[in-house]
Amino acid sequence: MDLTKILIIFPLLVSFTSATSVIDFCVADFNFPVTPAGYPCRNPASLTADDFVYSGLGVVGNTTVDHFNFHGAIATDLTFPALNGLGLSLARLDIGVGGAVPIHSHRVSEVILMIEGTIIAGFIDSNNTAYYKTLNKGDVMIFPHTLLHFQVNVGDAPALAFVSLNSANPGFQFTTTSIGANDLPIEIIQRITLFDAAQVQKLKGLFGGTN
Ligand SMILES: *[C@@H]1O[C@H](CO)[C@@H](O)[C@H](O)[C@H]1NC(C)=O
Ligand SMILES: *[C@@H]1O[C@H](CO)[C@@H](O)[C@H](O)[C@H]1NC(C)=O
Repeated sequence: MDLTKILIIFPLLVSFTSATSVIDFCVADFNFPVTPAGYPCRNPASLTADDFVYSGLGVVGNTTVDHFNFHGAIATDLTFPALNGLGLSLARLDIGVGGAVPIHSHRVSEVILMIEGTIIAGFIDSNNTAYYKTLNKGDVMIFPHTLLHFQVNVGDAPALAFVSLNSANPGFQFTTTSIGANDLPIEIIQRITLFDAAQVQKLKGLFGGTN
């Protein structure tokens, strides 16, 4: 793609979510690189109703393959291209008995709706104050943008919740996974976390980090 095309597409995307947008929707065209405002748009003439429907959140997730005993099915712009540019996404959380959604953060805010089971959900603010509470069916809680947060299944049955986030690509970052999955030398990770070498080695083993 040449620079002229990028310069034409970019201002269109930036203005898409504003009141003066000249388009109704912008289903992602993955033939072009992503920009800070999302992907360029597919030709509307090629779209059908199917492009605006995603059926990936109806299936119970298999939590047993995960170290934390949870499974997330995520509708973001990458899995559901119609979300591109609309500033929202949706995910299904299945948390096995004894499991948890590990502590993580993302660029945007999240709202959770409990469907089944009992969890303790919470976040830690920038003053290191923890706000956490037991949630049951029908409860809704918010997790403000960028703050570390978690969900722990404290019931005796699998828990199910749906979450919505105000970005089509929230940028999930799981703290423990990030610490374990990279190729930083163990000594550096120890210096920046105060973890023991054995703890760092364990996390590298679990999450595929090298060095
Ligand atoms: C979940 O995944 C594990 C490991 O791949 C597999 O053994 C198990 O049968 C799966 N369970 C279901 C319900 O699909
Ligand atoms: C910040 O945390 C400290 C220590 O826990 C607490 O005393 C203080 O009230 C908190 N400040 C705010 C603004 O929450």
